Amino acid sequence: MLLLAAINLPVIAVVINVLRQLLLPRDPSLPPEVFHWLPFVGSAASYGNDPMSFFFQCREKYGDVFTFILLGRRVTVALGPKGNNFILGGKSTTFNAEDAYTHLTTPVFGKDVVYDVPNEVFMEQKRFVKVGLSMDNLKAYVGMIEEEVENFLNHDGQFLTYQIGDINEWGQFDVSKVLAEITILTASRTLQGREVREGLDKTFAQLYTDLDGGFTPINFMFPNLPLESYRKRDRAQAKMSKYYTDIIEKRRQNPNHEDEHDMIAALMSQKYKDGRPLRDHEIAHILIALLMAGQHTSSATGSWIVLHLANNPEVAEALYQEQVKHFMGPDGKFRSMTYDELRELPVLDSVIRETLRRHPPIHSIMRKVRDDVPVPATLAAPASGKNRDRTYVIPKGHFVLASPLVSQVDPKTWRDPLKWDPYRWSDPEGVAAQAYNEYYDEKGEKVDYGFGAVSKGTDSPYQPFGAGRHRCIGEQFAYLQLGTIVATLIRKLELRMEQPMPGHNYHTMITMPTLPCKVVYRRRAFD
Ligand code: HEM
Repeated sequence: MLLLAAINLPVIAVVINVLRQLLLPRDPSLPPEVFHWLPFVGSAASYGNDPMSFFFQCREKYGDVFTFILLGRRVTVALGPKGNNFILGGKSTTFNAEDAYTHLTTPVFGKDVVYDVPNEVFMEQKRFVKVGLSMDNLKAYVGMIEEEVENFLNHDGQFLTYQIGDINEWGQFDVSKVLAEITILTASRTLQGREVREGLDKTFAQLYTDLDGGFTPINFMFPNLPLESYRKRDRAQAKMSKYYTDIIEKRRQNPNHEDEHDMIAALMSQKYKDGRPLRDHEIAHILIALLMAGQHTSSATGSWIVLHLANNPEVAEALYQEQVKHFMGPDGKFRSMTYDELRELPVLDSVIRETLRRHPPIHSIMRKVRDDVPVPATLAAPASGKNRDRTYVIPKGHFVLASPLVSQVDPKTWRDPLKWDPYRWSDPEGVAAQAYNEYYDEKGEKVDYGFGAVSKGTDSPYQPFGAGRHRCIGEQFAYLQLGTIVATLIRKLELRMEQPMPGHNYHTMITMPTLPCKVVYRRRAFD
């Protein structure tokens, strides 16, 4: 009897949940709720497996604003440029990032930085990082990145055909694996500094792997589980924090001119508004945060670029010819690029922009609502057209979610939105150019959230780096890193695709290509 009741309990819960949604009158001030069979679990499977299809299907049924259940959390989504503007342009006291993310990020980054401090302190920390990403520093990085990529091709075991094969021999490499390795090598050689780059060949690499194992959607949903991966995360955080504080200590005792362009040096020389210098553990934890923020985003983007170039040899050829035109000498040898030159390469630029449009690494940007917040009527018009003058209120405690991914592939805005077409960025009158101008508008509205004036950009349908006060500060670095990596690879390799184009793996924090993810290559005659 007891057993029968136990078996029936879940069924009863499902029935009550369904009847509640179908029969009980709903508070008309709440946004529509996405229908779901399982209480607590809600729409976790549809959202988690394919957020893009989930959002488009929900928009069809419920309009631009709706709430779905995600493992017990109530998440209200606001789609389209107006939705992005509403959430990303909102006040941090209403739409709060710390409340949404700290349980995921603080165990990984460490205490007293980013979402473990009040927003105004984090904005100061972003200002410190921007100093480290000065034009002078970026200029010093191009050559270092070229050298790391060349070294990798010349010495890594995954490129044996490149190293010892004939010019016409085709080899193969795993794109996401190679790009992950090149990304961390180049980021540590430049931003993170000499000691971290040296540690990558030894202890640092394992610490990074263990820490990264604690930065997954499971950690976002369940901050503390009695699992080995959580324990490894905590041990790695403590050791990595010490790794950096030891570096800082040593540098204080033996200042070295060579280190002047890296982020540790930049952070060691700055002060909060009240005159206090950063404490060593704050510097350490900001460095960890930057490592985590930049690694998967850049390596995923780099992977998609290489895959598309292999799949579109004519674009790869245009990119190669652009390199030949600007950088090949009469002896058939390439010279190094400068940062200013890198920024003036239209094919390379369009390839990066288009890849970030089609595959933004972050598909969902979340905040937590601190006070009941009304949704502007222009944004919340229900799909059916009924009740157009209704004003929804998002209750305190809900998560809100903006998805630049949806506006970046919305057929209402973009022609052939799912096609990877870098040339859409060449038309000065086209939608892409317009979206780009709105995002970077030099003449438009600039806001200083505490880390220097940035274009607001919250209205644009193109926002791969977010918008508003939480807008990415790694953008110029990411462009430089990706541009240099891709240009160096394309100078050396001809690429081809021999498998179907991979799909999107949404089960990781950052959207990655699904496996297998391989391309074939051969060494170019002139490199
Ligand atoms: C914020 C994307 C590379 C550091 C963001 C946000 C996005 C983003 C969408 C907004 C997050 C939000 O509003 O919650 C990307 C992409 C990258 C990239 C697509 C590469 C292709 C980097 C790199 C760094 C970095 C290389 C560090 C050097 C940051 C930081 C923030 C941020 C510090 C601020 C977070 C906040 O204010 O809450 N990034 N990012 N990112 N990113 Fe990036």
